[in-house]
Amino acid sequence: MGSKITSFEEYKAVYNSSIADRELYWAEQAESFDWHKKWDTIHSGSFEEGNVKWYEGGKLNITENCLDRHLDENGDKVAFHFEANDPDEGPRSLTYRELHEEVCKFANVLESKGVEKGDRVAIYMAMTPEIAIATLACARIGAVHSIVFAGFSAQSLADRIQDCDAKMLITNDGLQRGTKLVPLKDISDEAVEHCPTIENVIVCKRTENDIDWEDGRDEWWHDLMEDASSEHEAVEMDAEDPLFILYTSGSTGAPKGQLHTCGGYMVYVSSTLENVFQVDQDDVYWCTADAGWITGHSYIIYGPLLNGLTGVIFESTPMYPDPGRLWQVVDKYDVTHFYTSPTAIRALMKEDIEYVQQHDLSSIEVLGTVGEPINEEAWHWYHDKIGNGKCPIVDTWWQTETGGMMISPMAGITPTKPGYATLPLPGIEPALMDDSTKEEIKGNGVQGDLVIKQPWPGMTRGVWGDEERYMSTYFEKYPGYYFTGDGCKRDEDGYYRITGRVDDVLNVSGHRLGTAEIENAIDEHNKVVEAAIVGYPHDVKGEGIYAFMTCDDSIENPESFKKEIHDLVSKIISPIAKPDKIQIVEGLPKTRSGKIMRRILRQIAAGEGDDLGDTSTLVDPSVVDEIRAGKAY
Ligand code: WTA
Repeated sequence: MGSKITSFEEYKAVYNSSIADRELYWAEQAESFDWHKKWDTIHSGSFEEGNVKWYEGGKLNITENCLDRHLDENGDKVAFHFEANDPDEGPRSLTYRELHEEVCKFANVLESKGVEKGDRVAIYMAMTPEIAIATLACARIGAVHSIVFAGFSAQSLADRIQDCDAKMLITNDGLQRGTKLVPLKDISDEAVEHCPTIENVIVCKRTENDIDWEDGRDEWWHDLMEDASSEHEAVEMDAEDPLFILYTSGSTGAPKGQLHTCGGYMVYVSSTLENVFQVDQDDVYWCTADAGWITGHSYIIYGPLLNGLTGVIFESTPMYPDPGRLWQVVDKYDVTHFYTSPTAIRALMKEDIEYVQQHDLSSIEVLGTVGEPINEEAWHWYHDKIGNGKCPIVDTWWQTETGGMMISPMAGITPTKPGYATLPLPGIEPALMDDSTKEEIKGNGVQGDLVIKQPWPGMTRGVWGDEERYMSTYFEKYPGYYFTGDGCKRDEDGYYRITGRVDDVLNVSGHRLGTAEIENAIDEHNKVVEAAIVGYPHDVKGEGIYAFMTCDDSIENPESFKKEIHDLVSKIISPIAKPDKIQIVEGLPKTRSGKIMRRILRQIAAGEGDDLGDTSTLVDPSVVDEIRAGKAY
């Protein structure tokens, strides 16, 4: 661990000096890690050039910092408790020594299969310790991991494998989430058919479902591990060598592969976790995210291990076998730091309070949220019912692109306000911009587009294989700044409140989805001429998906048509992208240049269709009345 901030006064002083001398601050943060060789330069490059680098010339391996360096003093400390889908499955915990051994063995397996530094490896797995082992083993040999959330379809998996030319896929035979079995190997087989770059598929056994097998290509994890040595010397990496790619949705086209590098990411996730959650060595820290999202990368796998903490890997869902599951797990492991999504909180607060009261939550010291704005009602329920009115809530704002938390309270240090991510972390300088003048909005009590003024170590270094998209998405709208895609308010006290995306990205249950991706999937239906997707307020998911579409045939049975649309979207993207509502319309509101006016559709979807403002720029304003009068299914 580095040096933790311990008071609000100290925060203010450290923050001011970190902005005055960023390089000094980030050099200090990097000191406490094991480097084979220290960096030559702390920082170089700029947003304008899109060539930001941190700790260049530094040599390290992140897994030595996650594992090896803890062995002498804390080898017998639990690194992960594993909580299986079935609450009655026998207990399983891995100490730091055991995790180190497994990672070394699997690193040897990867090398024996010809995976080398710089090669890409796709990981499509259940939430068991093996997903962390696979991830860390890649990092240990310098292979670039690309984890794909195990809820994505075969096509989405194939797209991601093809985009980065992955050489190997690591998966399970299946996974069990609640009562549902997901046949990961079948889905992988379907994907790999379209992925000629995949040489090997390693299959980790988790379920009993029958699977197909291709000799020569497929191999069992347990067979390969049997003879593998538990000695492995980590490959030396440059600070700016790639660590991983993680795909995330943007406002246009296919998901973008965000590239993170070794040194800056390591320093950033470790120091943000330590400061925001104010962790100590005997804490039990549980983040309920999935390793397939950035939250899982940074704050299930890397951050907690870098800090030498005991974490929890949770395979199930908050609702299985009943809505008390999260609280039962907190009770079971005496969790002190609990980090989840507003969607989970909103879903659980609808359930009988008995599900909370049956469990002893007195171990909890700090609560966190991430991924989407939290409404005040959910914030208060979380604070009162889970935190017993005395645990600080850290509402952490950040993104796949930022690598780690950016604007967030520090637990017990920053005064909190419901719904507010509050203040920037040290080294992070946010600003609000005026969309029309492109000028910075100064002062307090204002609202605008959220940008970041200076590079930070955890930031994305590029979009895999598409430099132009990297530049146009993040650095073009406001030259000299990083554009987040979020809207934000700064109140009279200078506290930040994220208001939601200002681009065509939806945030559904904390999952990022591009409207264009869903539209393209729906357009594949042979009866659909054109689809337009917008978000609308949803009381559990935060944002629901509303699909307007024109069809070339009359639709006799809208309910079964909706089911066809759901099946199609599940097949092409994932069940998480299924529209909540569909409405078949005669025409979509378009400007003369052919652009769909989503503002109008958003207002109608939100039930605010009575006051649509100026519609005179539409080619055919009469479509609006028809849409307003129509029915959604
Ligand atoms: C949203 C998740 C409000 C935001 C770590 C951002 C939030 C997007 C918060 C990134 C928060 C994340 N309050 N909104 N505390 N945290 N967001 O890439 O719109 O999956 O741009 O990363 O989630 O989603 P991503």
